[in-house]
Amino acid sequence: AHQWRGVITEYADRLPAHVRERVVTLGEGGTPLVAAPALSERTGADVHVKVEGMNPTGSFKDRGMTTAISAAAGRGAKAVVCASTGNTSASAAAYATRAGMTCAVLVPDGKIAMGKLSQAIAHGARLLQVDGNFDDCLVAARKLADVYPVELVNSVNPDRIEGQKTAAFEIVDVLGDAPDIHCLPVGNAGNITAYWKGYREYAGLDDASLPAVATRTPQMWGFQAAGAAPIVKGHPVDEPDTIATAIRIGNPASWEQATHARDTSGGVIEAVSDEQILAAHRILSAEVGVFVEPASAAGVAGLLARAERGLVPAGARVVVTVTGHGLKDPQWALRTPEGGDVEPTRVSADVVSIADALGLD
Ligand code: F0G
Repeated sequence: AHQWRGVITEYADRLPAHVRERVVTLGEGGTPLVAAPALSERTGADVHVKVEGMNPTGSFKDRGMTTAISAAAGRGAKAVVCASTGNTSASAAAYATRAGMTCAVLVPDGKIAMGKLSQAIAHGARLLQVDGNFDDCLVAARKLADVYPVELVNSVNPDRIEGQKTAAFEIVDVLGDAPDIHCLPVGNAGNITAYWKGYREYAGLDDASLPAVATRTPQMWGFQAAGAAPIVKGHPVDEPDTIATAIRIGNPASWEQATHARDTSGGVIEAVSDEQILAAHRILSAEVGVFVEPASAAGVAGLLARAERGLVPAGARVVVTVTGHGLKDPQWALRTPEGGDVEPTRVSADVVSIADALGLD
């Protein structure tokens, strides 16, 4: 039987040779592209979701971490560092452990989901809660890596982008060509940069040494949380705030690459409110059958908002990346739309009471 071998081996011909010297993999990538009839009905388009929560540590970060940690291992690095809103730290911790390296993670104090914190600790990271937000953590991590013998594995490391671009390859491989529109959340803006690179390369646009697989590239539609929407506003946000803690970022490192992807693809970067994010989160869980963390629902929220404004062409083929697993930050499922707590119904252990509670006749 053949098993998916991880993105470095599966896409070896499209990745730089230096990531192959010492491959560190947990079998990342090869994630499902799931049809979403509930979203197709609502938008009049043909919508699929790319379920990145199915990666080994539960987010898309693993695609970039296999390449970044492999490259670091190939260079003989002993230690890595990252700033993170949670998922990068979980992924870096797992891959560093696998490579026998020390991993230091800087996270904003009190603003990271419990699931992600647990992962970083379980995988043995040196976790420091910094008195500051993600942007402060990233500045500190970059300085640390400049001065001390530790490698930076945030998405400003080009090896991260190389690995993450494979998600675009997988989508084209499954659909037979690029979609018309690709929607995704935008935080530090590494992922939109990576998808755009992947789509361009697969269309033979940047790297002419390999045959083109796609005939076109999609419009890139990125969505930031309204309380953390520097690219939409056109200036950094000093105190970013949103329930979608993964994208609570006020000064994205790949800002220019994101606006370049938006403009060269004919796309948009817009803001969605926390209410829109939670509504999309509920539709994904209760109608599509895919449980994601709040930030991951921002792409769906943005697509639905644009559909309401009549901006989604009928029949367009749309892919939405849902970036991280719902179990990372499960508390939101236990809230009612009105903001109350969901209380499980209690019953005694007899079948009549149970049938009664279920409303069965
Ligand atoms: N969705 C999730 C679940 C994320 O964790 C992130 C980023 C994004 C979307 C946005 O992606 O930064 O490439 O634009 N999380 C980073 C972290 C910042 O530290 O885990 P981006």
